[in-house]
Amino acid sequence: MKNNLIKLSNTINDWYTENKRQLPWRETTNPYIIWLSEIILQQTRVDQGISYFNKFRTKYPTIKRLAEATEDEVLKDWEGLGYYSRARNMLATAKFISSQLNGVFPDNYNDILKLKGVGSYTAAAISSFAFNEERAVVDGNVYRVLSRFFGLSTPIDSTEGKKEFQKLANNLIKFQEPSEHNQAMMEFGAIQCKPKNAECEICPLNHECFAFQKSLVGNLPIKEKKAKQTKRYFTFLICRDNENILIQKRPESGIWANMYEFPLLESKSSEEQHKIILEKEWLSSFTNTNTKVTHVSETQKHLLSHQQLFARFIELELGELQKIENNQLIIKQQELKNYALPKLLVNYISEREDLLYLLNDN
Ligand code: ADE
Repeated sequence: MKNNLIKLSNTINDWYTENKRQLPWRETTNPYIIWLSEIILQQTRVDQGISYFNKFRTKYPTIKRLAEATEDEVLKDWEGLGYYSRARNMLATAKFISSQLNGVFPDNYNDILKLKGVGSYTAAAISSFAFNEERAVVDGNVYRVLSRFFGLSTPIDSTEGKKEFQKLANNLIKFQEPSEHNQAMMEFGAIQCKPKNAECEICPLNHECFAFQKSLVGNLPIKEKKAKQTKRYFTFLICRDNENILIQKRPESGIWANMYEFPLLESKSSEEQHKIILEKEWLSSFTNTNTKVTHVSETQKHLLSHQQLFARFIELELGELQKIENNQLIIKQQELKNYALPKLLVNYISEREDLLYLLNDN
């Protein structure tokens, strides 16, 4: 086993030296900047994350600058990236470090782990990259490399699996510099030992790799639970008068927490949603104004991690805009672009020629 570990460690680290990508967060040991990159990369691909990382690093070069931002502002900067609780936790953590820790980012795994939004993976990444602490990262890439190389079939989302893989990764990190080793493991998983179309023919480990030798590459790693998907049926009302548009802030919990959206009717089924469109009962909530339905969209399917959304948009023009509910805001149309909207809404607006002006600078 030990020889196998050394072989794996040496080969991957040599491979990394030859093949690593130049990524901006690899050029710093500033824990704040590394934390920023790791939060962005938690549920985001590297190619999508880079532009957000650059934007945040430029706009918020220090933890103090981030701590001074408002939640609306940070959510707006995060718009399009999804999993918005990351942005809210990040801001809360920046405020905490700024006010409670004198603005100094914690310098070890145990203290980093206490921060909101930071789990064992992220704490290991920051403490190893910034402080070279010997803490093995185990992310999706590392699970894949280890399960294939050693032929481990314990489900990676089980308690037992998490323990087993972490233990193995902890043994494997002992042979190299922690920071380089962790980067190398993730990089090898990301660009060589890929989830699909792994390039096994040119892999430097193919002779020793259990999965390759037994033709099990496509079967490993194993997951036990399929995330349960809930279906939701949303009908958004895009209400405008000559100058204004109606929006509302989403609740503090649930999807898109604290972001902005158009007034929303939620139905229990597609049949019920269909009724909304046909029967237009909601029209009666717009009193004393002439109200014109100018467009009704097809259903737009939008996937979140645990929810499938079936959204329709009804576009309305009103003589004079009025609030239907208390949590709504009447804003100037040119201000809409300053509010953080879920990607589903931005996508819809950007595909409708009549609405596109709402996103443009003018
Ligand atoms: N994914 C998560 N963290 C990463 C990092 N530091 N480098 C490359 N990909 C990553």
